[in-house]
Amino acid sequence: MGTNQPWEHPDWYDLHDTTWTAGPEREPEHYRELLLALPPLDHDDHLVDVGAGTGKLASLITGGYPRLGQVTLLEPNERKLALARERLVQANPEMTVDIVALSLGEGAPLPPGVQGNIVTIGSVLMPIMILRGGTLADGLVWLQKALADVISMARPGGWVYALETLAAPWDQGTPEMPARRLSLIELSDEFEQAGLVGVECVYRFRDRVVLRGHIPSGD
Ligand SMILES: C[S@@+](CC[C@H](N)C(=O)[O-])C[C@H]1O[C@@H](n2cnc3c(N)ncnc32)[C@H](O)[C@@H]1O
Repeated sequence: MGTNQPWEHPDWYDLHDTTWTAGPEREPEHYRELLLALPPLDHDDHLVDVGAGTGKLASLITGGYPRLGQVTLLEPNERKLALARERLVQANPEMTVDIVALSLGEGAPLPPGVQGNIVTIGSVLMPIMILRGGTLADGLVWLQKALADVISMARPGGWVYALETLAAPWDQGTPEMPARRLSLIELSDEFEQAGLVGVECVYRFRDRVVLRGHIPSGD
């Protein structure tokens, strides 16, 4: 990496050092932007939220669209998953809420018949790529498998929405270097390689983005 990179400039460095990361205080705004970017959801719609955690994103979406017909929450941590389901059912007793305890991208068989027309990913892909360790090349292999899992749980013509935190400008390691977050171009390329079309960044604030892509309708 050359010494003329922007972060080598002391003033640029001081401005960006702790400023780059979007910051937890703005997190509700980023999640709300994903909600606002969704198409209208109603009785016939099926939301699949992967890496659902304790249901933060799914609760926001079902709060905005209380007539949404069916929700499937996928999350490997069974205690988080149970809490997420409890939250959704308490707030929306009429809604069908199914849970699946599973890790994406690990070759585990996916539940048969789960075909959402909206699949959401709330801050899962980039953090898990890093937490798994290994090289960037290893991380990309996992990401590609995880996206294949995501797409196989989506209906033709449906949408995939992801809220992710991108790499900082200085995070530029090559594939043999440790796993890192991706740039917007790299993440968009992965979405396209996975088979999504019309991939678009519908919101960005510094390192926080909402990306969406369409599943081809097969017509
Ligand atoms: C940063 S949290 C985000 C949770 C939730 N989507 C939200 O926005 O609050 C990432 C979640 O991904 C889950 N996770 C970890 N490995 C995963 C995998 N391989 N597939 C799906 N989810 C995974 C974690 O257990 C954690 O709940």
